Amino acid sequence: MIKAIAVGMNSCGIAAGAKETFNALQRFLKEKNINIPLKVTGCVGMCYREPLVDIIYEDTIITYGNLTQEKVEKLIDSHIINNVPIQEWIVKTDKINGTKILETWDVDGFFAMQKKIVLENSGYIDPENIDEYIARDGYEALRIALKHKPEEIIEIIEKSGLRGRGGAGFPTGLKWKFTREAPGEKKYVVCNADEGDPGAFMDRNVLEGDPHRVLEGMIIGAYAIGASEGYIYVRAEYPLAIKRLKIAIAQAREKGFLGENILGSNFSFDIKIKEGAGAFVCGEETALIASIEGKRGMPRPRPPFPAQKGLFGKPTNINNVETWANVPWIIRHGPEAFASIGTEKSKGTKVFALAGKISRGGNVEVPMGLSLRDILVKIGGGTKTGKPIKAVQLGGPSGGCIPEQMLDIPVDYESINKTGAIMGSGGMVVMDADTCMVDVAKFFLDFTVKESCGKCTFCRLGTMRMWEILDKISKGNGVLEDLENLEKLAYEVKAGSLCGLGQTAPNPVLTTLRYFKHEYIEHVVDKKCRAKVCKPLIAYRIITDKCTGCTACARYCPVKAITGEVRKPHYINQDICIKCGTCYEVCRFNAIEIVDAFQGVKNEQN
Ligand SMILES: Cc1cc2nc3c(=O)[nH]c(=O)nc-3n(C[C@H](O)[C@H](O)[C@H](O)COP(=O)(O)O)c2cc1C
Repeated sequence: MIKAIAVGMNSCGIAAGAKETFNALQRFLKEKNINIPLKVTGCVGMCYREPLVDIIYEDTIITYGNLTQEKVEKLIDSHIINNVPIQEWIVKTDKINGTKILETWDVDGFFAMQKKIVLENSGYIDPENIDEYIARDGYEALRIALKHKPEEIIEIIEKSGLRGRGGAGFPTGLKWKFTREAPGEKKYVVCNADEGDPGAFMDRNVLEGDPHRVLEGMIIGAYAIGASEGYIYVRAEYPLAIKRLKIAIAQAREKGFLGENILGSNFSFDIKIKEGAGAFVCGEETALIASIEGKRGMPRPRPPFPAQKGLFGKPTNINNVETWANVPWIIRHGPEAFASIGTEKSKGTKVFALAGKISRGGNVEVPMGLSLRDILVKIGGGTKTGKPIKAVQLGGPSGGCIPEQMLDIPVDYESINKTGAIMGSGGMVVMDADTCMVDVAKFFLDFTVKESCGKCTFCRLGTMRMWEILDKISKGNGVLEDLENLEKLAYEVKAGSLCGLGQTAPNPVLTTLRYFKHEYIEHVVDKKCRAKVCKPLIAYRIITDKCTGCTACARYCPVKAITGEVRKPHYINQDICIKCGTCYEVCRFNAIEIVDAFQGVKNEQN
């Protein structure tokens, strides 16, 4: 018997049309007089197959993918009314026992190599229903923790080997210890939910899909550290996460997990939400603190570290969303269980957001130590263009590009750092041959230039000067000396900047220079962009032999650069062409090619 139907309704699902699917399900169930509960869940990670609809039985969950509103009636008629599942639409099946997932099969093998700790509930529970969290052992870790001395909890976290998931990988237990041992009665814990890296959406998934897990982690952390107040700093661009966090906080208070004398103990703690305006720099700890205090989000020199002098001058422990979300699992399963997963120095799992040209975009959670190739090819399915992977950008603007030849390295903090990239918070942006590495470096630099708070000169002006050099190269005006200057400046910006933003901003440039220098040289010496991305270096040309004179290109050209008679070859006037690529896209005869502009493209009709 079907127990419930659920629709994955995180932001990713909603963007794919899950709300419309939900509404259609609601409508048809009513119309057809079917009395099965319809509920909302978060995202199971398969964003690329959304909208996802679960048909939940006592011992099985059958998940349908790409279940748009148009398919709802057929689903109801076939599966719900006639008990005939539509095999070709099924993307996942879970064998379950009550709330425990015993086994997951999926059509893509997306879950085969995954290990769920942080995402164990994501996509399986209603994030707005605390009872569903509790039914899956939620708040059990808090009960266990309260039976221990705070120092013992810190010891457990230290023993687990958990390291910060926000980027730098600092040992979490040690950080907690510093804050606990810092003098002062009043202490704070903060959850860093700023998630500013382009291409990263792991924290959003956790916040939207399983908010209680983050609260529980923070409550346990606050108990261990001796904090009485906590803040979740979350960007206002995450309205659904904020809404669900607010609901979760209210529910946790009602059940006595937050507030005065939690679960009858003499430990009291509460959490507030601070909405950030979405500045990248506000993810940096000291800038984040300033922002919560109501000041402009600008970093300050450290020491003193937030553990000594943080929010409102009090000892403060800041951890990332995913870091907090690991804590309940560690307490419930013990530090050894966590430490048995992963590598010697990088324990546990890591959640990654697969984005860019990846075939299966979404969130994956894998044991540390899996290779990049396993993550991107076996789980992610390679590129959606079918072309080979050229590189992967890890860690956003603070990270770097790792070339295809290095994809066999294990994903752990040390191995990734050796490449010049960083593990970062977990964004992985996949690139293929159609990506220009000079352009990628310019894109990230453009981001940092705009996001620099401007406090220190190296960051404010150094990144700008670096961007200008990249711009010059991408326009075909570069000289070889620019490459030397770019590298020199990159190291100076790294060394001279006050905070992590400036210190890491040159990483995309330095890694592309390290692994793709030949592309820079091609731009400078040959005035050529092999990926055909840098507009000044390319030109569109009509292959007259293939042109049928259908006139589509001429009709769509926004600047009227294309001329020709019907059923006769057309021509592009290079002096007028703005290289928007519209002609290339609309031509149905592959009659338009992209050529190197500097190889002398003539106005052939003249
Ligand atoms: C410019 C900049 C932006 C950052 N953005 C984030 C962010 O969005 N989320 C995050 O958790 N950490 C971010 N960090 C890292 C945090 O400063 C800090 O290392 C993290 O909150 C520590 O938590 P963890 O030990 O749990 O990783 C950023 C750092 C810098 C320098």
